Amino acid sequence: MFDTEPSAKKCAGMQGLIKEGSEKIEEEAGDAALICAAQKAEHYEIASYGSLIAWATLLEETEAVELLEENLQEEKETDEKLTEIAESVVNAEEAEEETDSEEEGKTENLKTRGKSNSRSR
Ligand SMILES: [Fe+2]
Repeated sequence: MFDTEPSAKKCAGMQGLIKEGSEKIEEEAGDAALICAAQKAEHYEIASYGSLIAWATLLEETEAVELLEENLQEEKETDEKLTEIAESVVNAEEAEEETDSEEEGKTENLKTRGKSNSRSR
């Protein structure tokens, strides 16, 4: 589109986010931490596309603006999906904790009943 050869440059910011995510995997930090790491990468991309769109708009590069907006939309959709997954993970963990404490309650009741039964004998 711009009659120039594309060139690549490693992004230090994204490299840092990827490193952080990899550390969470190694630490077995759990789903919520992994989703958080993924969302940080998405937000970094969203910020970058936002700036690129502003610059392309200033340069009146309409076609570039349209393509970049498509990319931005995809990043936002991914971010929203990650939020939905994060919320379902948190809800599932809460439900599991409630079940665990209910089980503990039942066990406690049985123990108490056992004690009162033995006392009454
Ligand atoms: Fe992305």
